[in-house]
Amino acid sequence: MAVHVEDHPLIKHKLGLMRQKDISTKDFRDLASEVARLLTYEATQDIETEQKVIEGWAGEVKIETIKGKKITIVPILRAGLGMMDGVLDLIPSAKVSVVGFYRNEETLKPVQYYFKTASAMEERTALILDPMLATGGTLIATIDLLKEAGCQRIKGLFLVAAPEGISVVEKKHPDVDIYTASIDACLNDVGYILPGLGDAGDKIFGTK
Ligand code: URA
Repeated sequence: MAVHVEDHPLIKHKLGLMRQKDISTKDFRDLASEVARLLTYEATQDIETEQKVIEGWAGEVKIETIKGKKITIVPILRAGLGMMDGVLDLIPSAKVSVVGFYRNEETLKPVQYYFKTASAMEERTALILDPMLATGGTLIATIDLLKEAGCQRIKGLFLVAAPEGISVVEKKHPDVDIYTASIDACLNDVGYILPGLGDAGDKIFGTK
């Protein structure tokens, strides 16, 4: 597994703003989109292109276009939706596959309640979106689902990741690459990332 910590100055600056205690919903939402856009730029560096010849203003011209089926993005409900617009700004033709989990309060395991994919998943690169990679349980369950659906190239984009989460995902799915703006210190005893961002879903949706 390759773990890419994107330390571009714009990413660091924007993530720093997101950590402020009393940040408004609007600012948090805007920044989540902006950081997601920058992570997308990094996570798509290696997608394949193919050459085409088109009619340009001064005759034939060779251009490069992205090869194969369109990328699918996979926001994990609900907080992953907060990264979706930023990613779609750069990949407007991406297909959106959506996955939803709730947590079983007895087993603490993620239970799937929604999964709707694009067609031909075996031919697409999937970019999973979740602001926080915390314990890694939901991410592992999402990757399991995507692989069952035939997906062969999977990457995950996270605003912040915890070392504990990265290590469990790496053991189960070493073929999945991770792109994050920061690897923070640790998880607290209820699974929140420290120093982290707090509850990213609540901050994006303006709920408590
Ligand atoms: N989910 C969040 O929203 N925040 C965390 O710190 C961990 C999981």
